Amino acid sequence: MFQDKNARIIKTESWGNYFLLRLAAAEIAQKSKPGQFLMIRVSPGLNPLLRRPLSIHDCSGSEVEIFFQVTGKGTELLSQKKPGDHLDVLGPCGGGFSLLPEFKDKEIFCVGGGRGLAPLYFLARELQTAGARPVVFYGGQTLSDLPLKKRLDEAGWETNFSTDDGSFGFHGLVTQLAEKELMKRKPSFLFGCGPEAMMTRLAEICQQAVLPAEFSLESIMGCGLGACWGCSRKIKKNGEIKYLRICQDGPVFPAEEIIWSGD
Ligand SMILES: Cc1cc2nc3c(=O)[nH]c(=O)nc-3n(C[C@H](O)[C@H](O)[C@H](O)COP(=O)(O)OP(=O)(O)OC[C@H]3O[C@@H](n4cnc5c(N)ncnc54)[C@H](O)[C@@H]3O)c2cc1C
Ligand code: FES
Repeated sequence: MFQDKNARIIKTESWGNYFLLRLAAAEIAQKSKPGQFLMIRVSPGLNPLLRRPLSIHDCSGSEVEIFFQVTGKGTELLSQKKPGDHLDVLGPCGGGFSLLPEFKDKEIFCVGGGRGLAPLYFLARELQTAGARPVVFYGGQTLSDLPLKKRLDEAGWETNFSTDDGSFGFHGLVTQLAEKELMKRKPSFLFGCGPEAMMTRLAEICQQAVLPAEFSLESIMGCGLGACWGCSRKIKKNGEIKYLRICQDGPVFPAEEIIWSGD
């Protein structure tokens, strides 16, 4: 992991309260894998004190991208950054999604709800490079919650969209759309990221379909480095229930190890 105190913002894009920033951060970019995240200091002052965790949305050469939704003060401050500004960034943090050689030529479902699509773009790109066939599902409440639609349309893999209000794509939840597709085809694996309720349902669907899966979990984080245990969560590991740190032991976990908050 590296600390880049001067990661320069080279591009920003926005759609309502969703933002994309591209940063020049060579050391971090060279080591980044899909599913890992950055810990970003959003203010030079003490408020907010804690760095904010954000997934690596894409990565190429010496550049990394983040895609985020404004949900509070930290992301609001980050949304105000402009090209030429610098950020203090730690990364890549955590472990990534499993990219297995046996995925070659296989269909792999990548299911994202809202801002949960963030880590799946980089993942789908890497899957495609490795010869797998990513099938991306991108769901939101309404069309304006699908700001990455154009980017996904241009990516060259299959993408299926859903909106809760039917304003675009399948009318319903992204979990319902994924379930519908699972009745027609047999992917080899599923990766998911999104709100806890969405991932809980997706995990049930995968279990019923006997489909192996991994999910990227979220938690409020203190250090992001494994030191404070502020992000700990009960996980089933080798039949034993333990507290593990989402920042260090995750954020990606196999479906069968996750104890969902409703369980
Ligand atoms: C590994 C990881 C990767 C993430 N990747 C992304 C991403 O790519 N894009 C994105 O938009 N968001 C992502 N998040 C969530 C993001 O970190 C939080 O939305 C952000 O830290 C909120 O900070 P804030 O100061 O804006 O809000 P705050 O004022 O701190 O909080 C606003 C609300 O968000 C909740 N919240 C705060 N921090 C988190 C958190 N870490 N996870 C979940 N809820 C939180 C609070 O409980 C509160 O309800 C990720 C979280 C984790 C743990
Ligand atoms: S945030 Fe400190 S241990 Fe995970």
